[in-house]
Amino acid sequence: MNVAASASASMSAAIHAEHLRKVYSHAPPGVAALDDLTLDVPTGRIYGLIGRNGAGKTTFVRIAATQLTKTSGVIEVLGHDVDQEPRVVRTQVACVPQESRPLYFLNVDEVVYLYLKLRGADSPDARRRTKDVLAELDLTEYAHQSVMRLSGGLRRRTLCAMVLASDAEVLFLDEPTTGLDPLARRGVWEAIRRTSRERRTLLLTTHYLDEAEALSARLALVEEGRLLLEGTPQDLRARVRYPYRVTVQTPFPREELEPYGRVTNIEGGYLVFAREDDAREVARRALDRGARLSMGPVSLEDIFLDVVGRSIQDDALPSDAEEGVFERA
Ligand SMILES: Nc1ncnc2c1ncn2[C@@H]1O[C@H](COP(=O)(O)OP(=O)(O)OP(=O)(O)O)[C@@H](O)[C@H]1O
Ligand SMILES: [Mg+2]
Repeated sequence: MNVAASASASMSAAIHAEHLRKVYSHAPPGVAALDDLTLDVPTGRIYGLIGRNGAGKTTFVRIAATQLTKTSGVIEVLGHDVDQEPRVVRTQVACVPQESRPLYFLNVDEVVYLYLKLRGADSPDARRRTKDVLAELDLTEYAHQSVMRLSGGLRRRTLCAMVLASDAEVLFLDEPTTGLDPLARRGVWEAIRRTSRERRTLLLTTHYLDEAEALSARLALVEEGRLLLEGTPQDLRARVRYPYRVTVQTPFPREELEPYGRVTNIEGGYLVFAREDDAREVARRALDRGARLSMGPVSLEDIFLDVVGRSIQDDALPSDAEEGVFERA
């Protein structure tokens, strides 16, 4: 990318990171939590950050949200350098941290209301937003309960409510739905989508890849502090060598499936990654034998397992990496 293109990308990006590096003070020698990370989070969109435990997601979120300082590189939020203008950035961002507890001695509605007041909302606005967000996240019946007596998932939802009720331009949600029941998760999804319709930016980290795919306009996959993949869910699929997955439950001879794609053993049968025509052929053969089968496009989880798996394998065995679901870069 030339300099002009890079500059214009950074102007339209809500979060701009360039060669970002973070080495924690007590890290083992040579271990960086973020290593030359360059990415742009577009304004007004939901951006998904995914990766294994320890990949660096929370480190990125905390640096962008002014809670942690970088070691080197550039990080800007809404055009403001996070190190040079942290106070400006802080007024425009809100964050659901990965681990934290809302103030225990207050009721649910008080926690949300006070958070909004501290952010500068006037009283009627804070009251209205509190009422709306509690309804949105199905928390109205708990409004007057002490946070201390809530279950873990309800406390998490209270934290999400605080941040999703705010008027911040950039929202950081670090695993907002971890520990939430499936209905509550969908409530948070709706609130996330509503915030995005208000043209505000959300950076979401999650280990639920269905969630990442359902919500994110773009996704970044990080591993050991580096960017492995970045793009829209469609971009990621467009790069897939084998865009279909077929599962076949039968004692098929494996050799019969091998010519059609990449075959792995699963409980009671095989999983085949294949191109469309080959996937149809595998399905036809399975039907001929009366075997149970399922067929569909590869999931983000397939892509994740393949790309991260090969990245780990490449570290260990540089010359012996298998052909993947993905095209190699
Ligand atoms: N306060 C800290 N001091 C030293 N090292 C840290 C600290 N916090 C995180 N790390 C290290 O930095 C790396 C990235 O951690 P980080 O918490 O950013 O990962 P993550 O992607 O959020 O993982 P998870 O999915 O488990 O939340 C890990 O190797 C971790 O051990
Ligand atoms: Mg984390």
